[in-house]
Amino acid sequence: MQQKTFVVKIGGSILKSGFPESFLKDLKSLYEHDKVVLVHGGADLVTQTAKAMGKEQKFIVSPDGMRSRYTDKETMEVYTMVMAGKINKQLVAWLQSYGIRAVGVSGVDGFLLRAIRKKKLIVLDERGRKIAIDGGYTGKIEAVNKEFLEALLNLRYLPVVAPIAMDDEYQLLNVDSDRAAAYIAGALKADAIVICTDVEGVIIGETVRRKMSVEEAKKNLEVIGHGMKKKVYAAVEALQMGVKEVVITSGLKEEPMTQALNHEVGTLIVYE
Ligand SMILES: Nc1ncnc2c1ncn2[C@@H]1O[C@H](COP(=O)(O)OP(=O)(O)OP(=O)(O)O)[C@@H](O)[C@H]1O
Ligand SMILES: [Mg+2]
Repeated sequence: MQQKTFVVKIGGSILKSGFPESFLKDLKSLYEHDKVVLVHGGADLVTQTAKAMGKEQKFIVSPDGMRSRYTDKETMEVYTMVMAGKINKQLVAWLQSYGIRAVGVSGVDGFLLRAIRKKKLIVLDERGRKIAIDGGYTGKIEAVNKEFLEALLNLRYLPVVAPIAMDDEYQLLNVDSDRAAAYIAGALKADAIVICTDVEGVIIGETVRRKMSVEEAKKNLEVIGHGMKKKVYAAVEALQMGVKEVVITSGLKEEPMTQALNHEVGTLIVYE
């Protein structure tokens, strides 16, 4: 059978109590048949570590309701240590222990993720008014070095990507992990992205939506809370970049990717 290309995003949310064995097992079977890139998050551990180092994290909300970490210079240092260091290396070690040829990289390595630093950010203040603040060290991904990933994949490595990008001035930048997965999948023209998190999918009202079109996803963005909103937004971007399907699912269940790709669990988002 023809090899497919999959991007799997593993949320920091599911790594809190260690690495789920069921996830690892399923990742291994996916990797044995297909090309797989793993992108990880880890927002909570960044926040905890920064706090332990005496650096409280600030979060900002954009006018379209997207919440993100305000990344000043010190925060970027902690972010880099935790994401490219602790989380990335621990993941790679776990994967290796399972016989997966994992290679940890960030967007800096091989200039994998080239981004533009946001000069200004428009945010809502406590009274809901729009104000402009200094952009800090957050980036918008502009290009993905897909040849680098393809070379690793062709050598049967599984790249494990930390969500850090770099700009043309070689400045390290914080990029959202769900969007990093979307851009990587878009560049690779991946068959699917499976976004694994700690809930079963996109909840609208009280139930998990099993399927959404791009139009429905966009319409529902307003009623989806922080965390999930980023995934749905990233899913829409990925589909617009030519990815065939995105499934948002729980990474804490048995065979999370296999079942998601069989459309047995999670929320499937497709063009129409
Ligand atoms: N409508 C919604 N449906 C499902 N989950 C929602 C919704 N609105 C908000 N959420 C929240 O989104 C969370 C998942 O996003 P979150 O950013 O916390 O985790 P993650 O992306 O897996 O981890 P990381 O950000 O570290 O990669 C869920 O735990 C849930 O509480
Ligand atoms: Mg998240």
